[in-house]
Amino acid sequence: MSGALIGLSTTTIGIIGFLIVILGWILYGFANLISGRAEVGSEIELAPNRKECYDDETLEGPRLERVQLIGVLLLALIVIALPLYWIFEPDRQAGAQEGWDNRHASWGSQLFEPTAEGGFNCAGCHGGMAAVGGEAPFTVTNPVTQEVEAVNWKAPALNTVFYRFDEDEVRFILNYGRPFSPMSPWGLVGGGPMNAQQIDNLIAYMKSIQIPREDCGEGEDPLTCDLGHLPGDLQADIEAAALKAVDDGEAESYGEALFNLELGSGAYSCARCHTLGWSYDQPGVAGQGAYGWNLTGGSTNAHFASEADMVSFIKSGSENGKLYGLNGQGSGRMPGFGSLLTDAQIEAVVEYVRSL
Ligand code: HEC
Ligand code: HEC
Repeated sequence: MSGALIGLSTTTIGIIGFLIVILGWILYGFANLISGRAEVGSEIELAPNRKECYDDETLEGPRLERVQLIGVLLLALIVIALPLYWIFEPDRQAGAQEGWDNRHASWGSQLFEPTAEGGFNCAGCHGGMAAVGGEAPFTVTNPVTQEVEAVNWKAPALNTVFYRFDEDEVRFILNYGRPFSPMSPWGLVGGGPMNAQQIDNLIAYMKSIQIPREDCGEGEDPLTCDLGHLPGDLQADIEAAALKAVDDGEAESYGEALFNLELGSGAYSCARCHTLGWSYDQPGVAGQGAYGWNLTGGSTNAHFASEADMVSFIKSGSENGKLYGLNGQGSGRMPGFGSLLTDAQIEAVVEYVRSL
């Protein structure tokens, strides 16, 4: 760690160790030479073979036993130390990896903080450090009067963003922002202020605040596992909000209610991307397209061979460069809903979309 603190690489540390050893040998050589010099001319007194040594009794008795004991102790040390190292090493590596991730997440959290705390104010728009969804002041041109008006644009919850998008898709959103929305480009490549490392740190932070998933595979991290689902209580909230909208007459069908779902600043809805103005409470014709494509008029239906095909597309979302349906060209911007909504909910939404 101290090596890391003063910026030394493993190679540099290796070279320094090597130099110390070489220096040690040189000093040892010198010391030998010097002490050897004093002997010149006095061989008779000091000749090694004339030096007094242990007698046979001691040599083959206590001394031999002492040397053997040292040998056994060293052997025992190796026999214990090697397996211990073997047992602890994987955990040590996992710990180091986790410490590394945590460090990046904590750097990312500093970027995420409100302006007053010195951050870039993601928290200010997205509903605090837990990013539960918020609102962003914005101005739009009224299509009828052509006047510029101030609106509040819903900023989706980010504590489920990795349920919708994979890491590369989130990186794309952060780098390039969402055109014609309050979400500006943040990466240098998109004309924003942050370098690639800062964007990665933000991603690490957002991973650390994901709502833990249910049904992850064994040993998988519930914050990031691929196939887990939204926890039951949130599922129930979605269900309740959709049913309530039908009861209140805000939606004619369960599918329509889910399409326009208000929970979590639009984090679970389709309309925020597919209905112009939905995000600032001036919705135009449902599904007629905004950031997401126009879903009305039958052309969307023609992009899918069957209802089941559309269902599976909405579960997985689009992938950049990958074709979908019959002739669809994915860009990775359409989120996947397979972990957020139940199969029955997605089927209901698809039925609604096909009726547009
Ligand atoms: C000025 C307000 C504002 C700020 C500041 C802001 N955002 Fe956003 N962000 C939004 C809005 C609004 C949207 C939704 C845009 C839309 O309707 O398509 C959004 C969308 C997103 C999305 C896409 C989520 C989804 O499900 O579509 C991500 C990810 C995101 N923001 C992350 C961040 C991060 C990280 C920061 C800080 C660097 C940040 N935002 C700063 C307003 C903001
Ligand atoms: C974050 C914005 C966003 C959200 C939220 C979103 N979509 Fe999309 N959707 C897109 C984009 C963008 C495309 C165009 C495909 C692409 O770019 O990959 C698309 C494409 C589609 C298509 C294919 C259109 C065609 O003609 O090929 C369908 C169907 C669709 N979305 C339905 C939905 C449904 C249903 C939901 C809600 C469960 C939803 N979308 C939520 C952005 C979004």
